[in-house]
Amino acid sequence: MRLLCGLLLLLCLVIWAADARKGGKGLRGRSRKRTVKRFAADCKESSVNGEKFFDCQERQLTAVLLGWPEDIHHLQLARNKIQVLRDNTFSHFRNLRSLDLQQNEISRIEEGAFNGLSSLTTLLLQHNRLQVASEGTLIPMPQLKYLRLHDNPWRCDCQLDTLVRFIQVPSNRNIGNYARCAEPREFEGRQLKKLDAELLCSPQPENVLIPHPENQILPAPQKKSDATSLCHTYVHPVPRLDCRNRGLKTVPADIPLDIVRLDLSRNNIKQLRPKEFVSVKDLKLLNLSGNSLESIDTAAFMGLLYLGELDLSNNSLKFFQYGVLEDLYFLKKLSLGNNPWICDYNIHYLIYWLKHHRGVSHTGLVCSEPEEFRGWPVENYVKTYNADCPKDKQLGQSPGTDPAGITAHQELTAQIDEEELVLELGPRPYRGPKKYEIIRLT
Ligand SMILES: *[C@@H]1O[C@H](CO)[C@@H](O)[C@H](O)[C@H]1NC(C)=O
Ligand SMILES: *[C@@H]1O[C@H](CO)[C@@H](O)[C@H](O)[C@H]1NC(C)=O
Repeated sequence: MRLLCGLLLLLCLVIWAADARKGGKGLRGRSRKRTVKRFAADCKESSVNGEKFFDCQERQLTAVLLGWPEDIHHLQLARNKIQVLRDNTFSHFRNLRSLDLQQNEISRIEEGAFNGLSSLTTLLLQHNRLQVASEGTLIPMPQLKYLRLHDNPWRCDCQLDTLVRFIQVPSNRNIGNYARCAEPREFEGRQLKKLDAELLCSPQPENVLIPHPENQILPAPQKKSDATSLCHTYVHPVPRLDCRNRGLKTVPADIPLDIVRLDLSRNNIKQLRPKEFVSVKDLKLLNLSGNSLESIDTAAFMGLLYLGELDLSNNSLKFFQYGVLEDLYFLKKLSLGNNPWICDYNIHYLIYWLKHHRGVSHTGLVCSEPEEFRGWPVENYVKTYNADCPKDKQLGQSPGTDPAGITAHQELTAQIDEEELVLELGPRPYRGPKKYEIIRLT
């Protein structure tokens, strides 16, 4: 009896399955749709300015799954567990422009892995386990402009020769920057971009005892605070470097030149040195919130012509030196909250600068000292100050004037009221320090 029942059930199943197979397009279409949903369940598809993003970051993925939408432009697979990129993995994503594979465990890329990616401009492979790769892998991507390869343990030998030569083609400005050799010893820490490609395929005199002149210069100590190994870089929607909360004591070296947003918040940076950001010319947002900043060199922001937003909140700033802000032509937002601003003569520069840059909105400028002004908006303090017999006060309180200079300083400024000086010079109440220079000469 039981056997019969079992047989009947089996028969039913077979008939049902055959039916389903015959079921034609309608049914098959429907079942595929269901598959799409299941595979894509954890990933997010979104659209920004007509560009389709497919976000599958941090999903513990070990491979690219079937059934993802094929018309996407940006595929985000960062922070997964992919180990091998097999031939034709991406060949059905014909419109793909960027592919983010950073922070996976990729140790091998098959020669045809990127087949079909003829529109791809950006490929992110940083923070993986690659030791070798060849130029051949990149051939299917004629539009490739940005290729990130840093933070992989590159083995710089003959197998890497074609890739290194490709990286070094002068027009490939954003291909393979900051990638460094991990092996062999004599090349350790050297940038692929700057390596002498001729040496890769010539036998290395490892067993020879005669000191090799090339090797003598080599022990290039790898800078430990290299931005690209400490921080994470992102390319879409804009090039961004995230160095949040990395225990940094200084601004890291080697910030990629095309970075637009730089987040250095929640570190331990105490001071900004001259020309700290001078090579990052496209920077629009600089976040230094939550550091221990006490001083900012007058030339620290040099070259930041396009900076629109500067967050200096939650630091230990008491005032700005004359000139600190002069390079920031296009600043729109300045966050200054949570700093122990001292309301004395030193703070005037900041107020005058803000007065002459009315397009800049600022927040958090509140006196913390001296006691009598604590909690006052700094502007109110300056107003009170100016209302109170300005000349006497200014001359008496000018800080930073060395005692020997005081008389000469008084002579030079005696006739000029601070307000007049500002009106005369426009947005640069800058002459102050210059006068001190003259004084020192006399
Ligand atoms: C700067 O970073 C802090 C802390 O990470 C964050 O709260 C703040 O919103 C950031 N500021 C800007 C302008 O992005
Ligand atoms: C200020 O910075 C400290 C240290 O980075 C952080 O712990 C704190 O949350 C920050 N406070 C605010 C108000 O952002």
